[in-house]
This record gives sequence, structure tokens and C-alpha cells, in this order.
Amino acid sequence: MKHIRIVMVRENMEDIPQYPLPEGYRVRLYRPGDKDTWVRLQWDFDSLVKGVEKFDKSFGYNLPALERRCFFLVAPDGQDVGTITAWYSQNYHGQRWGRIHWLGIVPEHRGKRLSKSLMTVAMNCLKVAGHRRAMLGTHPDRIPAIRTYLDFGFSPDMTGRNAEQGWKMVRETPLHNKNNQLTCN
Ligand SMILES: CC(C)(COP(=O)(O)OP(=O)(O)OC[C@H]1O[C@@H](n2cnc3c(N)ncnc32)[C@H](O)[C@@H]1OP(=O)(O)O)[C@@H](O)C(=O)NCCC(=O)NCCS
Repeated sequence: MKHIRIVMVRENMEDIPQYPLPEGYRVRLYRPGDKDTWVRLQWDFDSLVKGVEKFDKSFGYNLPALERRCFFLVAPDGQDVGTITAWYSQNYHGQRWGRIHWLGIVPEHRGKRLSKSLMTVAMNCLKVAGHRRAMLGTHPDRIPAIRTYLDFGFSPDMTGRNAEQGWKMVRETPLHNKNNQLTCN
């Protein structure tokens, strides 16, 4: 299922949900040398992913921006256990967009609404950086992530080549349909 890519968009940056971090957790910015941290975390999220290639392709053309835009979630014991990047796309549908990129939390820390706290941090960052709209790419099997993105006001972009097929797959996935949020129109 993973080869189908779907896109979600948010046409404005108003009323970003503000989820505080649970007690003991904190967020830190990317520092020089954190490529290894990022790659290790991607391995924890999904061992099929080639983290080094993904990092280089996603960020290699603007490494300094990571120090303002890439965040790590730090657990109460001081371990880095998640990441999100408030990135950008120079030309999507002819416009510049903020872009939510590579959200992930290690399995031991999932299910605590931490993805929402990370989304708050990243969306606030995009807004402060001057972005007026935001987009992201994901896959139909990423149901927890899609639910979080819906909660943050993202909606399916139905203009893409695989959009109809991809969102049909999402709708047919068990647990997708809380409050009928995934009705695509
Ligand atoms: C996506 C991810 C970051 C979510 O992190 P998390 O902190 O565990 O998620 P949360 O606890 O904030 O829950 C987010 C939503 O998903 C739901 N959810 C959590 N686990 C779920 C599961 N196993 N099945 C279905 N829904 C689930 C939650 O109920 C919540 O939705 P709701 O608010 O509508 O109830 C995490 O699952 C992950 O790292 N996955 C692997 C990497 C990935 O898929 N990244 C996204 C790439 S686009």
C-alpha cells in the first residue's frame, strides 16, 4: 500500500490547535551532527526505510534550515524519541507552502497524543516563518498520522494522480472513520 502517496493541505494558518507537551517531555531543535539522531529514529519508526538517503534527499539542499525547522521530542529520561520538521515546498500548485515533513514517534511513546504536541510546535514554527498555507504528503496506511492531520485542519487534496484511489483505501481501513472526518468532497 505504501507506494501510493496522498497529499493533504491547509489553506491558511489560522487557529492552529495548541496541544501542550505532557509533563516531563520537551522539544529541542536540530543541532549540527543530529543527522545520525534523525536517521536512527527513522529506523525505529520503520526499519524498511533507508534513513540516510531519505535525509539527504529531503534536507541536503538546505542543511542550515534544519537548525530552525527540525525538532526532536525528548522523553523524561533524556532520550530523543520523536521528530517533526516544519519544512517547505517552493512550488506546489504554483505557490510556496509550509510543509509538515517526517513526523514520527518511537513505538514505546505512541498513543499519548504526542504527535499532536509535535504538530503544534511545527505548525507554530511554519506560521512564525511566514508561511500562509501548509501541505504534507503521506500514505493511506498511516491512519494515526492522518487522524492527527485532520485534527489540525488539513484536508485531502483530491487533485493528485492517485488521490481517488488513495483516499478510497483510507476510507476502507478499519478505524478510519471517527466522526466521518474522512469524507472527501
Ligand atoms: C503517526 C504517529 C507519529 C502518531 O503518534 P502518536 O503520538 O502515537 O499519536 P497520537 O497518540 O497523537 O494519536 C493520534 C491519533 O491517532 C489515533 N491513533 C493512535 N494510534 C492508533 C492506531 N493504532 N490505530 C488507529 N488510530 C490510532 C489516536 O486516537 C489519535 O486520533 P484521535 O485524536 O482522532 O483519537 C506514530 O504512529 C508514528 O510514528 N508512526 C510511524 C511513522 C509515521 O507513520 N509517520 C507519519 C508519516 S506521514
